[in-house]
Amino acid sequence: MIQIALATGEQLTIMQHFLQASHLPLAGLERDLWRAWLAWKDETPIACAGLERYGKRALLRSVAVAPTWRQQGIGSQLVRTVVQEAQALGIQEIYLLTEGAEAFFKRLGFQPIARENVPAALHASAEWNGACPQTATVMVLRCG
Ligand SMILES: CC(C)(COP(=O)(O)OP(=O)(O)OC[C@H]1O[C@@H](n2cnc3c(N)ncnc32)[C@H](O)[C@@H]1OP(=O)(O)O)[C@@H](O)C(=O)NCCC(=O)NCCS
Repeated sequence: MIQIALATGEQLTIMQHFLQASHLPLAGLERDLWRAWLAWKDETPIACAGLERYGKRALLRSVAVAPTWRQQGIGSQLVRTVVQEAQALGIQEIYLLTEGAEAFFKRLGFQPIARENVPAALHASAEWNGACPQTATVMVLRCG
């Protein structure tokens, strides 16, 4: 049984640790992050995810599960929770950039989208501006 909870500002360092271990970008984390979540097993953080907000759209970023906890449904559970909470907060579309986890996100309802169809508001994100390579796949979930 795991617990998923909003991360506090002080817990951002936990997230940074996960991102470094998973080779995911740290750029813009403090500047752009709107909400972040941590998954806990007892007192141990085992996964993280974050959202940047651009009006009624959001960018899902920094989804990482500690290596020993992968392939057990935790990533899926975490993303579903983030999507539900984002929806409840009025978010209508959730975008993400990924290199290599397309199949994982597709199973959760995200669909690939051409870069030119991504709304300009999201171009402000550090992830968009080079933190994630141009070759990263862009995906969207329409949830509004
Ligand atoms: C991608 C990631 C978050 C998935 O977390 P997880 O807890 O292992 O995922 P789940 O256990 O909920 O789901 C596993 C399922 O997704 C698939 N999957 C998991 N990781 C995958 C990946 N990197 N690429 C493609 N499919 C993947 C598995 O095949 C599995 O499918 P199955 O149930 O049919 O066997 C985790 O592997 C991770 O932290 N990776 C490194 C960081 C990363 O790439 N993050 C995403 C970019 S933002």
